[in-house]
Amino acid sequence: MSNASWWERAVKVLPGGVNSPVRSFKSVPGDPLFFRSAKGSRFVDEDGRSYIDWCLSWGPLILGHADPDVHAAAAEAMAEGASFGAPSRREVLLAEAFLQRLPHFEQVRFVSSGTEAVMSAVRLARGFTGRDVIVKFTGCYHGHADHLLVDAGSGLATFGTPSSGGVPAGFTATTAVLPLDDIPALEAFFGEHGDKVAAIIVEPFPANAGLLIQRPEFLQACRELTRKHGALLIFDEVITGFRVAAGGAAEVLGITPDMGTYGKIIGGGFPVGAYAASREIMDHISPNGPVYQAGTLSGNPVAMAAGLATLEKTGRPGFYEDLERKGALLEGGLRQAAADAGVTATVVRQGSLFWTVFQDHAPRSFEAIDPQGMDTYGRLHRGLIERGVYLAPSGWEVGFLSAAHSDEDIETTVAAVAETFKSWS
Ligand SMILES: Cc1ncc(COP(=O)(O)O)c(C=O)c1O
Repeated sequence: MSNASWWERAVKVLPGGVNSPVRSFKSVPGDPLFFRSAKGSRFVDEDGRSYIDWCLSWGPLILGHADPDVHAAAAEAMAEGASFGAPSRREVLLAEAFLQRLPHFEQVRFVSSGTEAVMSAVRLARGFTGRDVIVKFTGCYHGHADHLLVDAGSGLATFGTPSSGGVPAGFTATTAVLPLDDIPALEAFFGEHGDKVAAIIVEPFPANAGLLIQRPEFLQACRELTRKHGALLIFDEVITGFRVAAGGAAEVLGITPDMGTYGKIIGGGFPVGAYAASREIMDHISPNGPVYQAGTLSGNPVAMAAGLATLEKTGRPGFYEDLERKGALLEGGLRQAAADAGVTATVVRQGSLFWTVFQDHAPRSFEAIDPQGMDTYGRLHRGLIERGVYLAPSGWEVGFLSAAHSDEDIETTVAAVAETFKSWS
């Protein structure tokens, strides 16, 4: 059956035809494709067409699709039992591997998604400090927990809704939303409300409204103000964890948060999230402390095995250096393609995360993104689909490079982008 016939069936039984809104093609031309198999940097749709994939399941697949070691580890675990609902050794092994990479934390709790990780971390921050207010920044997405679903970046921006329906005002009353890149606003807020703030939560390289790389001073201000006012700093590293460096954004920036939230890569393509902090903070979580959090499938052995295999491979010498080299190659190629075709575009990149925005400078805040560029992105998306290259179906989304992308994949992609740009003139 073709993509089109699956789509026809899907819209009848799934709201909007999808199980996550970002998969729909609301802000790019055409209908979503249906994929049936994947290997390395490529996947194949139900029409039998193969694409170089730069979305890669939205980040978990840093080794590419169907990595043989990850799949072998998951299969081995599954053969021993898919879920125990009781402690099992792979939870300990993954926790040890995780903490070895992130020595600023002492304990980690595994959950089943990034949303769950953030939701639990925020609850713990509130329980630990005895305070209610959480500070977040416009354009940062922290999963779809009610109280964080305000001014939350790509998915919502794609649909032109700044915040979600179905969230009572009371639920977000203790969420303060401030602009990124604005130290005076942050200082003024802490000056007035600092004693009520439980935590700042921030994506250290905000990657949910394009890629909004911050000035180090801004993140440093987050660190200093939280420390000064007895609040916690939470780095939401669901995207950046184990991606921008072995030790995530905290390592790249040299800033140590009090808590961190993770997902995506640590599950190697299976549903896993995690939150981590010092033992003192983690002691407040149940069963040791009064802050409740639980999960039927938390620490699932198959997902733990996939995560372990992924961490093992990303831990090999030269892994992140190679990603950086490929990232630079892609960035340079995309820049050149735009320049040659006279298209106004800026390529923003942090390691293996990249974003093309159709304006002449890299924005540092949500407000600094020109939404008009999203139509141009839609045309690029269509042009690339026709040429066998798949980007995330929204200009607000970043691209993901994996170890499985070859130099040839990069060259093919750059050539397809150049051809698409040229076809516009
Ligand atoms: C920074 C960040 N936090 C949290 C989440 C939520 O993770 P999940 O989709 O696994 O619930 C995401 C998802 O993309 C994310 O990018």
